[in-house]
Amino acid sequence: MTRDDFETLLVHGVYGADERTAGALTVPIYQTATYRQGEIGIEPEFDYSRSANPTRRVLERHIALLEEGDSGFAFSSGMAAITALLLLFGSGDEILIPRDLYGGSYRLLEVHFRNFGLKWRIVDTTDAEGLEREFSPDTKAILLETPTNPTLRVSDIAAVSRAAHRHGALVIADNTFLSPYLQRPLPLGADIVVHSATKYIGGHNDVLAGLVVVKDPEIAERFLMIQKSTGGVLGPFDSYLLIRGLKTLALRMDRETESATAIARWLLEHPGADRVFYPGLESDIGYAVNSLQADGAGGLLSFELSAAHSLPAFFAALSVITPAESLGSVESMACHPATMSHASIPPEMRAEMGISDRLIRLAIGIEGLSSLKDDLKRAFDASKL
Ligand SMILES: Cc1ncc(COP(=O)(O)O)c(C=O)c1O
Repeated sequence: MTRDDFETLLVHGVYGADERTAGALTVPIYQTATYRQGEIGIEPEFDYSRSANPTRRVLERHIALLEEGDSGFAFSSGMAAITALLLLFGSGDEILIPRDLYGGSYRLLEVHFRNFGLKWRIVDTTDAEGLEREFSPDTKAILLETPTNPTLRVSDIAAVSRAAHRHGALVIADNTFLSPYLQRPLPLGADIVVHSATKYIGGHNDVLAGLVVVKDPEIAERFLMIQKSTGGVLGPFDSYLLIRGLKTLALRMDRETESATAIARWLLEHPGADRVFYPGLESDIGYAVNSLQADGAGGLLSFELSAAHSLPAFFAALSVITPAESLGSVESMACHPATMSHASIPPEMRAEMGISDRLIRLAIGIEGLSSLKDDLKRAFDASKL
């Protein structure tokens, strides 16, 4: 699919126009839990909204097309989606995870799934060659995030997929940070894509949602039953919000990537920033792989605040950029991973993951670039010790 075709597909999706209203261009919100049944004994297309809902179905087909997979599934949050995905595995199975996996996914594995006998192990997913030695007969999947959160480390999706497939393991790619506009893991070799659609796909910080796309029809069939059985599905109105979000995904991500690149370059020169992590910088360790497999580095970057600045004062001085946990919205946000997104990870493990207590993650939105830079300048000045 060319970039042009993709941009058109984002806007038009799979929905033409509503037949019942002679052409409503916007997807109707079927706010219903159940449906009148026709002839008894004949299974209707829609019988109960946990199984299927027409608004959710438009979204699910749309995301499947965008990610180039067989089937799409919409959930009430990214974590509901990841919980459902882990139910593809059983007691004794092992999942490999990157060292700076999203804290919520780590907590889910460590605190909850461990009780059911599902094992996990941290590996360096950025080292595809070394990864070959990490698979055991119990390894059933590798959960990949690229770039990772919050240190933006990049893994080679095609190389990791080749290694995983040689050992009979599935590759589940969390594509939250780049979205299908900038990166499509399935054609690169991954088996399943998952999103916290709360982020770039929703795009406006007004909906909590998760999306899954499965490449293989047989796995999709199994997963459909998991979705129906567990029931953490996305509501009709929230499904509509995601369809609306997708229409402007390309515009938002282009703008956010452009501003993030400019801010990362500016931070590189700033004495208040010790280290800058952004795979869109030529000097970044992940630049080459990211440039090969993605159409951009996205709106997320992080940096270590120098010891010459007070961290609380830096956050307190921000006024355009909001101190907040989330990312991927039109509003810029700043997160302190050690106390926010990654607080559930023990400090020793955070240190091992490269998440220092002075790390600040910026999720760049669509505000004017100079107002963002001025805000950061003010915060650096106000926090100088
Ligand atoms: C990479 C990643 N995956 C999954 C999630 C969980 O998604 P949600 O907050 O929508 O449940 C998040 C949330 O921040 C995330 O950043």
